[in-house]
Amino acid sequence: MSLAVIYQPESPAHDPEIDAINEEAFGPGRFTRAAYKIREGGPHERDLSFVAMHDGTVIASVRMTRIVAGRGRALLLGPLAVRPAFKNIGIGRRLVAIALEAARNAGEPCVVLVGDEPYYGPLGFKRIARGQITMPRPVDPDRLLAVEILSGAVAALTGEIRHADA
Ligand SMILES: CC(C)(COP(=O)(O)OP(=O)(O)OC[C@H]1O[C@@H](n2cnc3c(N)ncnc32)[C@H](O)[C@@H]1OP(=O)(O)O)[C@@H](O)C(=O)NCCC(=O)NCCS
Repeated sequence: MSLAVIYQPESPAHDPEIDAINEEAFGPGRFTRAAYKIREGGPHERDLSFVAMHDGTVIASVRMTRIVAGRGRALLLGPLAVRPAFKNIGIGRRLVAIALEAARNAGEPCVVLVGDEPYYGPLGFKRIARGQITMPRPVDPDRLLAVEILSGAVAALTGEIRHADA
């Protein structure tokens, strides 16, 4: 299917639509997720967060939040969500690729997420070694993934991940 989709950095005007998309995708349980707990610690990076627009409406969103762990720092990717009517046409993958490219261009050291390896692996994400980092709430260690941009950046992440401002 060929659809007119515009990708652009997020702005505050998109917030209500993004909240609705995330509620639809993750339900009320989203507030109890480990990554949500970290993101509660401060703002996300608007310049590195993107929306997909169709017909003037937000149809998908990816956010990036600055985090630290030990002497390492990174961006936490998520939430990533696509409105159900627009799933499986490549929008999620494209948003991840755009966010990674923006992180690279900004000289960021690495990007971390909690997610499914079968989906994110082909986009360049690799498992973080078991026990190297922890989250403020339990997560399946096989779902802790990272893309290294600057050499040594993933190894520098140790211990509990928290928001860079927390
Ligand atoms: C997961 C999600 C972001 C994918 O976005 P999308 O735009 O529909 O996906 P894309 O079109 O980029 O990719 C589709 C492909 O990924 C696969 N895929 C989707 N979710 C997957 C998952 N969790 N694990 C493995 N593969 C997955 C699809 O089967 C499809 O495969 P195909 O290309 O072989 O047909 C979207 O389905 C969504 O919003 N889901 C609900 C929220 C969510 O789970 N977010 C991710 C949290 S980590």
